[in-house]
Amino acid sequence: MVKVKGDVTTYEKIASSKLFQHAETVIPGGVTANIKHFYPYPIFMKEGKGSKLIDVDGMEYIDYSLCYGALITGHGHPRIVNATINHLKETGTIIFGTPHELEITMAEKITKLYPSMEQIRFTNSGTEAVLLAIRLAVAYTKKSRIAKFEGHYHGGLNQVLVSVNPSKKNAGEETAPNPVLESSGIAENELDNTLVLPFNNLQATESIVRKHAHELAAIILEPVQGGFIPAEESFIHGLKQLTDELNIVLIFDEVKTGFRVDLGGAQQIFNIKPDITTLGKVLGGGFPVGAVGGRKEIMMQSAANANGDVFAVGGDSKKTKNIVFHSGTYNGHPLVLAAGMETIHMLETDQLLKDVISKTMLLRTRLEKLYASYCIDMQTIGMGSIFNIVFTNETIKNYRDMWKSDTAFREKLDTELLNLGIYLKPLNRYSMSVVHTLEDIDKTVEAHELALKRVLRK
Ligand SMILES: Cc1ncc(COP(=O)(O)O)c(C=O)c1O
Repeated sequence: MVKVKGDVTTYEKIASSKLFQHAETVIPGGVTANIKHFYPYPIFMKEGKGSKLIDVDGMEYIDYSLCYGALITGHGHPRIVNATINHLKETGTIIFGTPHELEITMAEKITKLYPSMEQIRFTNSGTEAVLLAIRLAVAYTKKSRIAKFEGHYHGGLNQVLVSVNPSKKNAGEETAPNPVLESSGIAENELDNTLVLPFNNLQATESIVRKHAHELAAIILEPVQGGFIPAEESFIHGLKQLTDELNIVLIFDEVKTGFRVDLGGAQQIFNIKPDITTLGKVLGGGFPVGAVGGRKEIMMQSAANANGDVFAVGGDSKKTKNIVFHSGTYNGHPLVLAAGMETIHMLETDQLLKDVISKTMLLRTRLEKLYASYCIDMQTIGMGSIFNIVFTNETIKNYRDMWKSDTAFREKLDTELLNLGIYLKPLNRYSMSVVHTLEDIDKTVEAHELALKRVLRK
């Protein structure tokens, strides 16, 4: 049921509301990841099936969040479930805690699809992948600072939890953005390590980077900001030239775009080989995962050797110092890799990813037509199987351009959509899957029209 409190649209989902109140007693804010929180309370799900989620009140939704893009085969795809269970049955264990063959198979598969990733290490999340990528870059260049772009998200690491969503008041000049911390609990001096650059503005980026080249180990970016604002060709090629010239490691964070904008990620589309790439999400088939890969000479800095183990009692600390530390109890988890491998096989076969992308384009076109028929300034922006809905006709090239869009209107609409069986965290991106059907697309467009009428009526 939709409710309106003042001019804020909200809803009443009784079982979710009760669970949320209960959750709040033992879990801060009732959620285990801050991104899962939204107003008035997040919706608790109890079942997932194909493109659908079913909440604890029994309501069915077409899911466009897909666990923030991770589930490109939808919920509980039999091929992914079977691959995982079969691996478990065949090996008799959940995890070996030793090297195993699937790590090599997956690493080889990644190096084929992403030729810039000559060697691979696995992690348990995108955040951990970014941590290792930055550490490798610092070790390789022997410089200590990094630069990131305003509005780009790279996980929860202190050094990159900067200027992801800065307010107009704090953001500073457009061509020389202020670094703004996104969390309390991070020491102010962490800001000394991170420069903030303006995305899709090569001239301003170059001027900042040249000034700091002597101390910059790496520049990290989402080649498609937030998965939906692509870098301009001239910008990203210019950035590659600049980093090559100045001995700065270029890191493409393809956690969101990997296997989604194309099998070989945004780097395949832009035809650029970054020095290091981070992957996550789709790579794990829905299980927690991350991967780091890049030029062999950079990656080899983390190569273990028998004398370089920090955990070895009486080990030689001089030797460990020369090795980039990378470890993790669950790295290369066999079940995760089995699910991820099957996901990649599926996407490769029968052009399945191409199908997902054409369904995405169909939905985008139909939504654009719908809003145009109501004379509303709306556009969809995106790449491959991800897109966003933006209420403005202005060109969107970076984070600050998004300030021009009517987010209050979008939020009302998204809240109404949650009552009409379309699941997306308000204001988030749409991700599509192998199992979304043409019927789902019809229903989604119908729901948008109804939601729009309701919002316009209020
Ligand atoms: C581009 C990008 N990098 C890194 C991360 C962090 O990944 P994880 O949530 O697996 O730690 C995300 C997560 O959304 C992301 O989108």
